[in-house]
Amino acid sequence: MKASVVVVMMCVTLAHANVKPQKDFNISRFAGRWYRVGLAYDSAHFAPYRDKLKASMGVVTVLPNGNVNLSMWEPTPLGCVNQVYQYIKTSTAGQFTYFSRRHNMVKDITVVDTNYNEYALVLKHRVFHREYTQVALYGRSQTLKNSIIQKFKAFALSQSFPRESILTPPPAAWTLRAEPLDPEPVIQTQENFDLGKFMGKWYQVAAVSTCPCYMKRKSRNPEMFPVVLQHVGSELNFTKTATIFRNGTCKQMTSRYSLTNTPGRFFHHVSRFGADVDSFVVGTNYEEYAVMLQLSRDQRSGEKSTNILLYSRTMNVTSALLDDFKQLVEEHGISGDTIIINQNNGECVPEGAGEQR
Ligand SMILES: *[C@@H]1O[C@H](CO)[C@@H](O)[C@H](O)[C@H]1NC(C)=O
Ligand SMILES: *[C@@H]1O[C@H](CO)[C@@H](O)[C@H](O)[C@H]1NC(C)=O
Ligand SMILES: *[C@@H]1O[C@H](CO)[C@@H](O)[C@H](O)[C@H]1NC(C)=O
Ligand SMILES: *[C@@H]1O[C@H](CO)[C@@H](O)[C@H](O)[C@H]1NC(C)=O
Ligand SMILES: *[C@@H]1O[C@H](CO)[C@@H](O)[C@H](O)[C@H]1NC(C)=O
Repeated sequence: MKASVVVVMMCVTLAHANVKPQKDFNISRFAGRWYRVGLAYDSAHFAPYRDKLKASMGVVTVLPNGNVNLSMWEPTPLGCVNQVYQYIKTSTAGQFTYFSRRHNMVKDITVVDTNYNEYALVLKHRVFHREYTQVALYGRSQTLKNSIIQKFKAFALSQSFPRESILTPPPAAWTLRAEPLDPEPVIQTQENFDLGKFMGKWYQVAAVSTCPCYMKRKSRNPEMFPVVLQHVGSELNFTKTATIFRNGTCKQMTSRYSLTNTPGRFFHHVSRFGADVDSFVVGTNYEEYAVMLQLSRDQRSGEKSTNILLYSRTMNVTSALLDDFKQLVEEHGISGDTIIINQNNGECVPEGAGEQR
């Protein structure tokens, strides 16, 4: 038993030992925008997500010290999330190490083969832990020549990846609004955002914020409440009317949102808190859920905070939706444990109609 384990490990080590980085690797030519158009990843944990994978987009920025930041945008069920990976250079050009927070370990990255203007074949590995090894095929565009795809598949097979773990995900509709080398994260809104379908009644079912006052305020009244979005006067603006039960009465509060040139992005001002708020609908299917990310800036202190809100068309939500929401929140660097999940205590009815609690 022991012997066979040792043999397996040696084979793995040998497979990787054969892998050399691109000859005369030139990091400045490797910089810029790439799409991950192929992925070989043989992890049991990842297997259920194989057919959900879409091509993600990354921007490689070379830092003055020769290290590299890879900023990746990944489409998730609830919208697009951005993550920055820092690759530390080694004494071998084309070889980097990085610390994976997800797996809590250092990994090696080797740019195995690239012609810089079309494709790059990248091996991510940790010797002796094959389950975390990946081969990625990056393309300067989302569609690559068949000969390049075949080269990627052959390389992954040579690294003993099972055929079913070698994927070429379909392209995603990327609409990048920043310069390719802009290190600022871009908040991606729902693709083909349809304002008309977004209007109507929603319930705020969960919320989280990096602002302690917001969290304090929310946690005092963790109740689901309806918000009605409505076009007003001009087609270019809409109102949001929230009906909330506070201090023994049922109140309606209306805010006015202005549209921007970016579909799914709105501005509004909250005079009560003296805050300017930039809202992004990061994901919605219009019929069930919507996730709104808000960047809020306090006019006086200039302090910024991020709020992430989950809206649902119904007061009952599935735990799968809450799990997806939690994942999205964590990918924005906010602990999922701080999410306030609103309780369903029924709706209140404002004025005259009597209170239905
Ligand atoms: C790397 O590529 C850049 C940009 O094409 C070029 O200016 C530079 O001379 C190259 N460096 C080497 C060592 O070839
Ligand atoms: C590179 O990434 C690190 C860690 O995320 C970040 O602190 C730094 O500002 C980034 N630098 C650039 C130039 O993007
Ligand atoms: C509710 O009452 C508290 C204390 O009486 C007050 O500070 C708060 O502003 C009131 N909230 C609303 C929404 O009226
Ligand atoms: C939309 O609302 C903003 C702020 O309330 C206002 O300044 C702007 O004039 C409105 N735009 C239109 C087209 O009504
Ligand atoms: C929520 O409740 C409605 C009506 O009771 C039901 O039709 C719907 O399937 C439920 N949705 C979920 C996600 O449980």
